Amino acid sequence: MPELIVALDLPSSQNIPAILDHLPPELTFFKLGLELFCAEGPDALNPLLERKMNIFLDLKLHDIPHTVERAVHSAAAHGVKLLTVHACGGKAMLTAAAKAAAACGDQAPALIGVTTLTSLNQDDFSDLGISRTLSEQALALGRLARDAGIDGLVTSVHEAAALRAALGPDILLVTPGIRLPTDDIGDQKRIATPFAAVQAGADYLVVGRPILNAPDPAAAARAMLENMKRKP
Ligand code: C5P
Repeated sequence: MPELIVALDLPSSQNIPAILDHLPPELTFFKLGLELFCAEGPDALNPLLERKMNIFLDLKLHDIPHTVERAVHSAAAHGVKLLTVHACGGKAMLTAAAKAAAACGDQAPALIGVTTLTSLNQDDFSDLGISRTLSEQALALGRLARDAGIDGLVTSVHEAAALRAALGPDILLVTPGIRLPTDDIGDQKRIATPFAAVQAGADYLVVGRPILNAPDPAAAARAMLENMKRKP
């Protein structure tokens, strides 16, 4: 069964224990990103590690191969389960990242490639000199990442089925932009329900504001978990 990951997009880790206390115990996977990591460094992971939660560290690494290799090695030492790298870092960088993860043995995080930021559109592509369409680019970079040994991809639900069909059953698909029909869309453009994400072949669904900003986060999380299993 695919898993729900709660995105802890917070300025400080201080409230994490209270947030965990108010969520259903079946939620055991949490995403920490650049805001919190830049503020507190690896200490930000402590409230999750202390409770033996699974961690998705969303740092979107993108640098020369050697630097990314060492960063993957350092991140793996914190016991994170998923770690993001930018697929547009190229084959050598992706291969170096995969090699560093493989060398970590049991502690190896699964590496998740970001193909195209969802904030970019076709105009940005022409500014960047990219002539492919958004979906062509996602598929090309997804294939590049998979062939370099990257374990999975971040994708909108709308591209998930095509990536699953093209890249096979083993690639891990991580889908943000998840909303129930009653949720605020916020700044997300390409949204889908949890049920649609599961149907499209997602392995991990990432949800932030619809749970954390809900008047009753536990009820919001339970509604997401229920919707994953069946249409409302
Ligand atoms: O609050 P919301 O459910 O929109 O949060 C989604 C999470 O997934 C955020 O942490 C966001 O940064 C992340 N994300 C995303 N789109 C991507 C990659 C990551 O929304 N392409």
